[in-house]
Amino acid sequence: SRKMKIITVSYRLPLSIKRQKDNVKITQSAGGLATAVLSYSEKSQKNLTWVGVADFDQQLWEENKNNYDSNFDIDPVYLERRLNRNFYNVFSNSVLWSLFHYFPSFIEYTHDGFEAYKAANEIVADKVNSIYEPGDIVWIHDYHFMGLAKIIREKHPQAKIGFFLHIPFPNFEIFRVLPNKVRRYLMEGVMGSNLIGFHTWENAIHFTECIEKMLGFPHKNFLFSQDTHRTKVGSFPISIDFDKFHNAYDNPNVVKLRNEIKDLYKDKKIIFSVDRLDYTKGITNRLNAYETFLNTYPEWREKVVFLLVIVPSREEITKYGERKKMIELTIARINGKLGNYKWTPVVYQYQSVDFDRLIALYTSADAALISPVRDGMNLVAKEYVASRKDLRGALVLSVMAGAAKELQESLTINPHDFEQIALKLNYGLTMSEEEQARRLEHMQRYLKKHDVFRWASDFLNETEEIHNKDTKAV
Ligand code: UDP
Ligand code: G6P
Repeated sequence: SRKMKIITVSYRLPLSIKRQKDNVKITQSAGGLATAVLSYSEKSQKNLTWVGVADFDQQLWEENKNNYDSNFDIDPVYLERRLNRNFYNVFSNSVLWSLFHYFPSFIEYTHDGFEAYKAANEIVADKVNSIYEPGDIVWIHDYHFMGLAKIIREKHPQAKIGFFLHIPFPNFEIFRVLPNKVRRYLMEGVMGSNLIGFHTWENAIHFTECIEKMLGFPHKNFLFSQDTHRTKVGSFPISIDFDKFHNAYDNPNVVKLRNEIKDLYKDKKIIFSVDRLDYTKGITNRLNAYETFLNTYPEWREKVVFLLVIVPSREEITKYGERKKMIELTIARINGKLGNYKWTPVVYQYQSVDFDRLIALYTSADAALISPVRDGMNLVAKEYVASRKDLRGALVLSVMAGAAKELQESLTINPHDFEQIALKLNYGLTMSEEEQARRLEHMQRYLKKHDVFRWASDFLNETEEIHNKDTKAV
C-alpha cells in the first residue's frame, strides 16, 4: 500500500538559493523554524514533502534541485513579487509578528496587506490540496499560514491537520487590536485543524480565551467540538537535535576553530550572543546592560570581550533597518567610550555563521547572554547548553523567552533591568567550575530527553489521535 506522507508547510523553505556573479550559492535558512523542522526532516523515517515559498525563481530551482541532497521532497511555491511583499513584509511581519510579540505600536496595517495574506493562503492551499492524498498528515507552521487549515478542510473534510505556532500568542486585550474581520479570519482559519500547538501553556490559554470570547465555542479541557471535526489545543515546546549539538564539540574542524578563538582572546573571558536582527531580541538592551556591567565592575575592563553575532533578517522592513542603526550606534558608542587601542569591548559581525563556527563560538564562550524582550522559545539558549560537552560556561537568559520555563538552571534576568543583568553576568563569569557543571548537567539531562524528535512525534501523534477519535465517532 501507499506510504502516507507528511506535508509540512512553512513560509520559509529550509534552503535559500542565490545567484552570484559566476556561481550559485545554496545556504541553509536562518531561524528556529528552519533549524528545528530541518533537524526532524533529515532524520525522519517518514515520507515527507516540504511546501514553502521560494526565495528563488523556478529556473534556478530546476537547475539546482539535484544539487541539494536530502531525504525529503521540496515543493516550492512561487509568489508574484508584489503579492509576496504585501503578504510577508506587510501583513505577516509588520502586523502579526509585531502584535504577537506585544509591540502593538509597531503595527503597520494595510488593506492590501490583509488581502495579500488571504490570497497567499489560497495559493498555498491549492498547492497542498493538489499533492494531498487520503491518509496524509498536513503539518502547518507559523503565523504566515493561519488561514490554511480551514481552506484545506473545505476541500478534504477528512484531512489530518496540525497547526503549530512558533511565536507567542498574545492575550485577548492585545489580540483585539486587530480589526474584527481579520481576527475572525485568523481564528476560524486555524480552527480548521485537529490540533493547535504552542510553545507554552500560557500561549495555549491565551488562544483558548480568544476563541471563547470571539467565536463563543465552549471547550472541555482544551478540546473544542465543532460540526465537522474536533480541535485540541496544547503546549508542545520546540527543541533541538541534542546529540548533534552535543557531539559537535569533538569535530576536528570545531576543535581547530575553537582553539583559534581561545588563542585570540587568551587573557580574556568571552561573552557571546547570536540572534537574527530583530527588535524582539533585546539587542540594544543587551548592549546597554553590558555597558552598565563594565561601569559597575571596572575590574572587568580589558579582561572581557563581547562577541556579538547578528544574522541579517527581514532587511526590507523599516523597523528592522532602524533597529540595525540603533544597534550599530550603540556598539560604536560603547567601543568609543570604553575601548582603546588595546581593547575592543564589543566585537561585532553582521553576517551569518556556519554550523562549525557556531559551535566553536558556543563552546569558547564563558557566558551566553540572551536577552529577548519577547521570544516564543529561543533555540539559541538550548543550543548553547547542549553544545557544552565540557560542562563549562554560564547561560544568562531572559525570563521573556519560552526557553526560560524549561532551562531551570539558567541565570534568569529581566531584559530591562541593566543592574540585574550586570550582577548576573558577573556572577556567571565568576561561578565555580562545580556550579557551572551542576547547572549545565541538569539542563542537558532535560534537553536530551526533550529533543526535537520528541517534540515532532508528540505533536504528530496527538494530531493523529484527535483525528482518529473523530472518524471513529462518525
Ligand atoms: N542560526 C542560523 N544562522 C546563523 C546563526 C544561527 O540560522 O548564522 C540559527 C541558530 O542556530 C538557531 C536559530 O538560527 O537554531 C535561531 O532560532 P531562535 O529560536 O533562537 O530564534 P528565531 O530566529 O527563530 O527567532
Ligand atoms: C522565526 C519565525 C519563523 C521564521 C524565522 C526566520 O523563527 O517563527 O517563521 O522563518 O523567524 O525569519 P524569516 O522571516 O527570515 O523567515
